[in-house]
Amino acid sequence: MGKIRVGLIGCGGRAGNHMSQLIQMEDVQVVAVADPIEGRRLAAAEKFGCENIYANGDELLDSAKGNVDALFICVEPTAHGNMELRAVELGIPFLVEKPMSLDLEYAEKVALEAEKKGLITAVGFQDRYQDLTDIIKKDLPNHKPGGLVYGAWVGGIPGVWWWQKKSCCGGQLVEQNIHLLDELRYLFGEPLSIYATCSEGIVKAGEGCSEEYKNDDHSTAVIRFENNVTATLVSGCYIRRGVGTRPRCGLYITLEDIIYDYRLRNNLIIETVEETRDIPRKADQTFTQDRAFIDAVATGNRGLIRSDYTDALKSLKLAFAANESMESGKVIYFK
Ligand SMILES: NC(=O)c1ccc[n+]([C@@H]2O[C@H](COP(=O)([O-])OP(=O)(O)OC[C@H]3O[C@@H](n4cnc5c(N)ncnc54)[C@H](O)[C@@H]3O)[C@@H](O)[C@H]2O)c1
Repeated sequence: MGKIRVGLIGCGGRAGNHMSQLIQMEDVQVVAVADPIEGRRLAAAEKFGCENIYANGDELLDSAKGNVDALFICVEPTAHGNMELRAVELGIPFLVEKPMSLDLEYAEKVALEAEKKGLITAVGFQDRYQDLTDIIKKDLPNHKPGGLVYGAWVGGIPGVWWWQKKSCCGGQLVEQNIHLLDELRYLFGEPLSIYATCSEGIVKAGEGCSEEYKNDDHSTAVIRFENNVTATLVSGCYIRRGVGTRPRCGLYITLEDIIYDYRLRNNLIIETVEETRDIPRKADQTFTQDRAFIDAVATGNRGLIRSDYTDALKSLKLAFAANESMESGKVIYFK
């Protein structure tokens, strides 16, 4: 196979991160880009010297057959239309950003059709590809299971317009802290139950956010796993810009004989009776993730993907279950 020909659907912030990885890969050529915002699609095209420039993902897909080997889909959560279903129909592998959709029925259909076709898919749960995650995952089975996990993603409000309303982004747990929710599943398996609460009113519309702001300021989810593991995952977006240099985000995993203090995408402190080790993150996990996807496309080896659409759907459903619990006040049981 020659170079992997990539089509980019969505040329915004996250696509920019992927572009920075793809440009480093000699076996990749970005051949098509799409975004309704002209300046963004033109800038992306210029970066890669690409001549196939489209105003939206559907137009790119119309001419993708035989011309594109893999897609990166990085649009806002409500803009997916039926892009992934079309990619499945065309048999083009895709990496789509989380949360893959806010429409559960649609996401279930995509997973089903992709599985039927055996299509290579990937979802942007970048933390699964991180060297620090590898260390925890490899070491966990050496210790007696059972204990508490405190997880947090607390900071400010992302600038993108669609984040300002829960109806457009799904809320912070669905849009952002789904990374740690997925990490919990990756480390501790499928959950038994989830209960969540949320609160609004700290952030005022138009003050440090858009006039449209209508979102939870913070939420707390309690997730029970097998083997006596219970995780509390807090999400907050009310901290004003400039307050605190490093909000304490990550997972603090406490077992009987070891503590893993995972500081989000930065370092991991491991404490036992014998020693304390502070391990910095070495590689950029988005590069590792994108490389794995490209390699899977080139070789047909789906095993390289750590989060395919079907698996990622379980994290999406868990986040939706948390929202359901926030609304109903009830515990949602899975087993
Ligand atoms: N994995 C991660 O760590 C990570 C980080 C940031 C964002 N994300 C996710 O990536 C997605 C995009 O986020 P973002 O920050 O890049 O948002 P963004 O608003 O910066 O970019 C989205 C882009 O999609 C474009 N778009 C909308 N509809 C389109 C269509 N029909 N066809 C083509 N392009 C279209 C928009 O014009 C915009 O330029 C979101 O789902 C977000 O949750 C993931």
